[in-house]
Amino acid sequence: MSYVIQGGQEGKARLSILGQAMNSYSLNALLKAGLKQGSKCLDAGCGGGTMTYAMAEIAGPDGFVTAIDHDAEIIRLNNEELALLKVCNIGFRHEEVYDLTETEEYDIIFARFLLSHLSNPALAISKMVSALKPGGWLVTEDVHFSGHFCYPSNGAFDTYLEWYARAVKYNGGDAEFGVKLYEHLFGSGLVCRMCN
Ligand SMILES: C[S@@+](CC[C@H](N)C(=O)[O-])C[C@H]1O[C@@H](n2cnc3c(N)ncnc32)[C@H](O)[C@@H]1O
Repeated sequence: MSYVIQGGQEGKARLSILGQAMNSYSLNALLKAGLKQGSKCLDAGCGGGTMTYAMAEIAGPDGFVTAIDHDAEIIRLNNEELALLKVCNIGFRHEEVYDLTETEEYDIIFARFLLSHLSNPALAISKMVSALKPGGWLVTEDVHFSGHFCYPSNGAFDTYLEWYARAVKYNGGDAEFGVKLYEHLFGSGLVCRMCN
């Protein structure tokens, strides 16, 4: 287990706020990557599933979004919610990203704020790349924690940045991973179709 932030119910509530701030930007990237009706997608490290639902709405009844997370409690809560909402094109699974076994299965794989928490992001990337259909897209976003700033400066804020980065590092992750995404992804043989 390498996740440093509280999961379960508290995690789900926190990630719902994060989703309100971030989802429209993430969805834009997914639409550019070709998310459409009928798409078969994976949301890796789905947390509370806010992006899972957003993707499933676009994928529609002919598409499907599989969503995995290693937090058993958050997946239980997501499944409870899914049963109430009666959404049929989503499947939540309790699973480590490292244990993905699918090959050439997905049109799009989305992983937001997952890789920075991992001690072996290269393995996770290779598993996700194998799970993509030929020509499929891996869309990923991550943090660059030292890029946060507060003006005027504030000691408590600086301490928060320092402690978060240290806690993530202690758990094997890297709070600066966002700026390193490019080298990690293209080291794994992917091509950037957003830039070309
Ligand atoms: C910062 S949250 C992001 C959640 C979601 N992607 C979002 O943007 O709302 C990171 C999620 O990754 C999950 N996670 C961490 N390590 C994982 C692993 N090795 N395999 C699967 N999920 C993992 C955590 O349990 C957590 O729910």
